[in-house]
Amino acid sequence: MVSYKELGLVNTKELFAKAIEGKYAIPAFNFNNLEQMQAIVQACVETKSPVILQVSAGARKYANQTLLRYMAQGAVEYAKELGFNVPIVLHLDHGDSFELCKSCIDFGFSSVMIDGSHLPYDENVALTKRVVEYAHLHDVSVEGELGVLAGVEDEVVAEHHTYTRPEEVEDFVKKTGVDSLAISIGTSHGANKFRPEQCTLDANGVLVPPPLRFDILEEIEKRIPGFPIVLHGSSSVPQDQVAIINKYGGNMKNAIGIPEDQLRKAATSAVCKINIDSDGRIAMTATVREVLANNPMEFDPRKYLGPARDNLKELYKHKIIDVLGSVNRG
Ligand code: G3H
Ligand code: 13P
Ligand code: ZN
Repeated sequence: MVSYKELGLVNTKELFAKAIEGKYAIPAFNFNNLEQMQAIVQACVETKSPVILQVSAGARKYANQTLLRYMAQGAVEYAKELGFNVPIVLHLDHGDSFELCKSCIDFGFSSVMIDGSHLPYDENVALTKRVVEYAHLHDVSVEGELGVLAGVEDEVVAEHHTYTRPEEVEDFVKKTGVDSLAISIGTSHGANKFRPEQCTLDANGVLVPPPLRFDILEEIEKRIPGFPIVLHGSSSVPQDQVAIINKYGGNMKNAIGIPEDQLRKAATSAVCKINIDSDGRIAMTATVREVLANNPMEFDPRKYLGPARDNLKELYKHKIIDVLGSVNRG
């Protein structure tokens, strides 16, 4: 058993309280490898932003949970070495069982998500409560979820959104004891969040997706005032990066994300954690494609992963400064 406190990590309690009070959101960036971790820590040190490092089930399969935990421990030391001790949370993204959450808690994670959103309500409550009871013995934070995002939610495939029902949130929070709640108000995972026919065209011929359901968010805030809310599926799918991918041999069609102004607005509400993964993947891929296309003789991974990491860092800084507002909150 390793406590996250020995590793220099923090749970989400104080970070979320400050984020709600200060009307900003903490970035939750997924990581699977060294370059993503470096980019996240560099961006957060340079902007003095707290950060949530997220490990998904896919990341555990790809990179090994043990390695990722030591990397998070390394991230704490790396941040100090870069000159600013930013608060770092190590979070399990989309945990799907009590056993998985327990294993992460025992291994040094400071926060876990138990995603029972696809279960019948009572089963979601029972599973979430069980995880909370164990996590809180160790001062570890727990994120639950109500409502199902459209698109692919790990192994769960939802054709349509099942928006969070505001009438359920108070009961869920009270019965489970969760520390934060992920909700479904129109975001979704991946790079194709909307079909073009769902969008309208603006004066410049740019596709504008339907707005998030701020009415549902407001209703939820009324029922659980000041309670930390989480938005998954919050990538904006930067069109300049998609264009680079497509210019250099890629084929990303109809890639549409959540407009950044919508996320900026959400960050000023009780939404205090915003999950971004796909945008980072897109930025890295754009640079790798461009570098390799322009340098066909290149075979040193540092020559394409290095610039990809730098591009990723700039993307994260932009999110922190211009979208989430967590700059100088570390
Ligand atoms: O919510 C999903 C995250 O983007 C993680 O994706 O399961 O492919 O690592 P992944
Ligand atoms: P995106 O696919 O929009 O980046 O969402 C990531 C996410 O919600 C991770 O849990
Ligand atoms: Zn998610």
